[in-house]
Amino acid sequence: MNKKLIIEQTKTFVRDRLYGEGSGHDWFHIERVYNLASYICKKEKGDEFIVKMTSLLHDIDDWKLKKENDTDTTITGNFLKSINLDEKYIDTILNIIKTMSFKGGIVDSTQHTLEGKIVQDADRLDALGAIGIARTFAYGGSKNRLMYDPSIKPMEYTSLDEVKNKKNHTVNHFYEKLFKLKDLMNTDTAKHIAVERHKFMELFLEEFYSEWNFNK
Ligand code: NI
Repeated sequence: MNKKLIIEQTKTFVRDRLYGEGSGHDWFHIERVYNLASYICKKEKGDEFIVKMTSLLHDIDDWKLKKENDTDTTITGNFLKSINLDEKYIDTILNIIKTMSFKGGIVDSTQHTLEGKIVQDADRLDALGAIGIARTFAYGGSKNRLMYDPSIKPMEYTSLDEVKNKKNHTVNHFYEKLFKLKDLMNTDTAKHIAVERHKFMELFLEEFYSEWNFNK
C-alpha cells in the first residue's frame, strides 16, 4: 500500500469537493487542520497515516453542511472503498469522524484513540484564535445571523434541535462553544496552542465591546 499516494489522492478528492464551501468548512480549513494534526501527531507520536487521512476527510460528511442523518458517513466511506483502502483503516477513520464533532456540547464526542484525540484537537484549534474569529463570523453570516445583540444572552443547550434552530447572534458562539474548547483539548501539545489562541479571542472581544459601547 502506497500511503503517500493515497494521501495525495485524498487531498485531491477533498479539495475538489470543498474548495468553495462558504461556511468555514472550505478546503483551506481542511488544509489548516491537516497541518495542525500532522504537527500534533509528530509530538504525540500517533499513527501518521490515520491522522492525515482522517483530518483530510473529517468534514466531507459534516452534519452542519446537510440536513440528513447526523452520523452519516456515506460519501467518505464510498470514497475510501473506491480507492481500495484496507477495511481496518476505513473502520478506524469513519469511527473517528462519526464521533468527533462538538454538536453544541450535548452529544458525547469523547475520543478513545490517540489518533481521534489528535484530529479532534486540530479541528478545535482551527476554531480558536484569529482564524477562529474569522470563521465564526463567516459562518454566522452564512446563516444570516446578526454579529451581536446585547439583549440575547448566551445559553446552555439541552437538545440538538435547539442548537440548530435557535435564533442567535455570532458573539454568543464564543461563550456557547469557543471559550469551552481550551479545556476540552485532549493532548498537551494542543493545550499549549489553545491557551494562546484563547487569550487572543478574549482580547478581541474586549476591544469589540469597547467599540460597540463607544461614547455610551
Ligand atoms: Ni472541521
